[in-house]
Amino acid sequence: MKKIAIIGAGNVGKVLGYALKNKGYRIIASFSRTAESRKLAAGLLECPVFSEPEKAAGEADIIFLTTPDRVIKEVCASIAAKKGFKKGQIVLHTSGAHSSEILSSAREDGASILSFHPLQTFPEFKVGLRSLPGTFFTVEGDEEAFPVAGEMVQALEGQMLSIPTDMKPVYHAAACVACNYLVSLMDIALKMYGLMDIPPEKAFESLSPLIYGTLGNIRDLGPEKALTGPVARGDVSTISSHIGKMKELVPKLVPLYRQLGLYTVYLAARKGTLNKEQEDQLKTLLGGQENEC
Ligand SMILES: NC(=O)c1ccc[n+]([C@@H]2O[C@H](COP(=O)([O-])OP(=O)(O)OC[C@H]3O[C@@H](n4cnc5c(N)ncnc54)[C@H](OP(=O)(O)O)[C@@H]3O)[C@@H](O)[C@H]2O)c1
Repeated sequence: MKKIAIIGAGNVGKVLGYALKNKGYRIIASFSRTAESRKLAAGLLECPVFSEPEKAAGEADIIFLTTPDRVIKEVCASIAAKKGFKKGQIVLHTSGAHSSEILSSAREDGASILSFHPLQTFPEFKVGLRSLPGTFFTVEGDEEAFPVAGEMVQALEGQMLSIPTDMKPVYHAAACVACNYLVSLMDIALKMYGLMDIPPEKAFESLSPLIYGTLGNIRDLGPEKALTGPVARGDVSTISSHIGKMKELVPKLVPLYRQLGLYTVYLAARKGTLNKEQEDQLKTLLGGQENEC
């Protein structure tokens, strides 16, 4: 079984290291910055824990750089400067935002580089470990390292998705839209319920069947067929009444409402439920024809 070093044994490093150890991988070394974190890692990963990252990289076949995003490049470069990498090793990071290219200093020493992003959230060890099975790992970088990445994903009971290196920002933006912007949309809906003095918990409870039902429909039917509501029906006067009341009560939310509504017009047009007149009226009401999506 392959030998692994975990450089940055924080939330992700500990969870992935521990899970891979349980599947027979050998965790031969790890690094953390603080003494407290090193003690925790030593207990969980049952390996020597170093206070200098280059000492941890040593004899490993696969080196996980699971430090915060902001220092991955610098930690990698500092290990490379101390000749900590060698030919045949795989050096990877788990950031969703950055591409594998931030590890190019390791490639210069003959290592293969990857980004290996678990599309999952790891707030703490036990929760993270529990949520691993079924997780998608998005991988890009040096193709010769893909089979090893695939073996790890299989061992972790996950699924692998590979993307081109130059599309990493698009991939991460899509994940932000699906996750973070969904949170923002929900916050807006709760705020609008607040205008009727309905507290957020009650608002969410009442919206829940609609939210989860819609997600289920998107999963089962795809976005076009899942789309219902006034835009899909071409109810121009209904949309006009929304904008009128929102201008009065929450004017700052109107531009976002218009922009999302406009995107929805294009989706409804794809669905084929609008006639040309309704489509044109909605585009004019929501933002003008120049906003082609
Ligand atoms: N957490 C998530 O939900 C999640 C999900 C997917 C991907 N990721 C990615 O996984 C990576 C690690 O995230 P994480 O949440 O596991 O981070 P974390 O819990 O903060 O752990 C970071 C690790 O790096 C060490 N470290 C902190 N600052 C450092 C520095 N300046 N130089 C060297 N080492 C440093 C920490 O040591 P100490 O513990 O001693 O401070 C710790 O071992 C990031 O790239 C992140 O984007 C995270």
